[in-house]
Amino acid sequence: MTNLSQVVNFDLYPINDLDSSEGLNFLNRIKDELDCQGSCLLPDFVTETALSTLAEEATKLTHLGYQGPTMVSSYFFNYHIGDGLDTDENHPVNRRGKRNLKQIATDLIPKEHLLSKLYHSEMMTYFIGRVLGTEAYCNEDPYQSLNISVMEEGGCQQWHFDSSPLVTTLLLQEPDVGGIFEYVPSIRSDEDENFDAVRKVLDGERGDVKQLHLKQGGLSLFRGHYSLHQVTEVTGSTQRLQAILGYTTDPNYHGNVESSVLHSGPRIATLESSML
Ligand SMILES: [Fe+2]
Repeated sequence: MTNLSQVVNFDLYPINDLDSSEGLNFLNRIKDELDCQGSCLLPDFVTETALSTLAEEATKLTHLGYQGPTMVSSYFFNYHIGDGLDTDENHPVNRRGKRNLKQIATDLIPKEHLLSKLYHSEMMTYFIGRVLGTEAYCNEDPYQSLNISVMEEGGCQQWHFDSSPLVTTLLLQEPDVGGIFEYVPSIRSDEDENFDAVRKVLDGERGDVKQLHLKQGGLSLFRGHYSLHQVTEVTGSTQRLQAILGYTTDPNYHGNVESSVLHSGPRIATLESSML
């Protein structure tokens, strides 16, 4: 199934014809939602047949997932964010939240899998570029460009910010219960980290927390760099499988090796040193 008309639901989402009036309206709707809510959901983005192939292929790879760190900062590798600040142990930069998921690295996802084909398709890259208003590229990092996150019973992800301005995910399989995506839109900006508000969310204040009800087969576009977000605990035996499609505006972008080793395992360090 390589013909994208059998993969993407073009009746709902005309990403194959973005310059038509329908296509332009569609793009404007996405941009408006991103501006107003920091997120945009496209339910049933892939067809039912494609979804079943995507979920089946992903399930075959779940044993390759790497657990990675279990207590993680909201700011990941932004180690210097607290520099120059007088911070106590409860300050957001010093706190860690529970992360319980396995990540399948890019190099473990076969090129012939439908997910790889969809991710690398010119149509998807062009579509994301049009949403961003600039040229977009597939991230060329060998481990971090396309990933599958696997959450089993008890799986969750801590409150955090993403490094990328726009995160594109495709939910391949919903869990029985839980695994809800929660976020606080635009809680920080380039000018203001708004640590007081972040601290309140980490302390459990729910007033500004919103939920995105992701359904399997739905594509999500999310401005995760400015919006604090988490995934609630998964219950039941059905795995939550989510693909993370890393697009970038920098054609030479590569993630850092330290992050790849932490999230994809020590084999990455061995692979990298063998290439020196
Ligand atoms: Fe995230």
